[in-house]
Amino acid sequence: MNRTAQWDDDSRAEGVADDFRRLFGGAPDGVWAAPGRVNLIGEHTDYNDGFALPIALPQTTLLAARGRTDGRLRLHSAQGDGRITDLVVAGLAPGVVTGWTAYPAGVVWALAEAGHAVGGADLHFDSTVPTGAGLSSSAALECAVAVAYDGLYELGLTGPELARIAQRAENGFAGIPCGIMDQMASVCCTAEAALHLDARTPESHRQVPFDLRGQGLRLLVIDTRVTHDLGDGAYAALRAGCERAAALLGLPALRDLSADELPQALRALPPELAPLVRHVVTENVRVTEAVTRLREGNAAALGPILTAGHASLRDDYRVSCPETDLVVTAALGAGALGARMTGGGFGGSVIVLVEAGRESAVGGSVTAAFAAAGHRPPRILEAAPAAGARRIRPAPGTP
Ligand code: GLA
Repeated sequence: MNRTAQWDDDSRAEGVADDFRRLFGGAPDGVWAAPGRVNLIGEHTDYNDGFALPIALPQTTLLAARGRTDGRLRLHSAQGDGRITDLVVAGLAPGVVTGWTAYPAGVVWALAEAGHAVGGADLHFDSTVPTGAGLSSSAALECAVAVAYDGLYELGLTGPELARIAQRAENGFAGIPCGIMDQMASVCCTAEAALHLDARTPESHRQVPFDLRGQGLRLLVIDTRVTHDLGDGAYAALRAGCERAAALLGLPALRDLSADELPQALRALPPELAPLVRHVVTENVRVTEAVTRLREGNAAALGPILTAGHASLRDDYRVSCPETDLVVTAALGAGALGARMTGGGFGGSVIVLVEAGRESAVGGSVTAAFAAAGHRPPRILEAAPAAGARRIRPAPGTP
């Protein structure tokens, strides 16, 4: 699957470069790719300085890009309304750009804000990352720009530095108070591995081998088609609740509360904050356990960890919704090894771990359960741990 995905990016790159020529005249300087992600475990932990374990998806945003010397930034997307957005780098400021172009423009703004000598560019995007499905299509857009600018302007930034720039674009320019997981996943994941992220020190991330296929397993991503919107205030409120709880406990972040200290902390906290803290502390423990199981070569043992993570998000963090809960129940009922919502919540996608050969039975059960409940049919993808952001053209190894 990974080889296919990379081959796929390779073959798509030609078409994207051709579209660039038609749109902007002349060839792009290069074509870059950045993937969407699913998180295996470690949800709503990143902004608490905690742990997460995402994988990159084979679905990517491709970006054909060419630097400009006149400070203009021109943006076009194959998934957009056909128009070219024309901006001036020196005029970029939070609030002046809205819609999808805020993400790429925000990255250029964040690079300039961080003191990097960057100019304009012509950028043409073409993405296979589903939007509104909780699969980090916005992080893929941002990270494609970050790696392309790193190449175009020879910035020499590390993966975690690029991820921080992309996160800064989302926080400071697009106005969404997300953590760093999505951007770290999009930049730093590698094929056939999950990324063990410590959000306090992203530089210390580790690749954990995740050989799904070799262990006779498959990972389904089931998009409920309930649109999630991180900008609607609920995410910010949860984040603020966690920060308030950490302050009340006298801790820098909830990551600094151990499982042993949890019972006492829960007694000390107001009732609306205690469940949030219980989720974060137990979720960090689940990440560590998942990493141990993967390192033992026992990916099937992730199943119960995923399901426990879902219960915690549903009952304590309260970010699931009837559709995500239904996917989990129907999938487990059809013999899945484990399932949970992934990403910020309030809709979006559910990941389901199944034994190879059970994909259709489990997918069919979920689809039937949705029909019986009167929901729109879910979209079902198969995921495999793919590579993070990279240059596709000129081919790596060539100047
Ligand atoms: C969104 C955010 C991430 C992370 C997840 C929840 O995807 O962008 O930073 O907080 O929600 O784990």
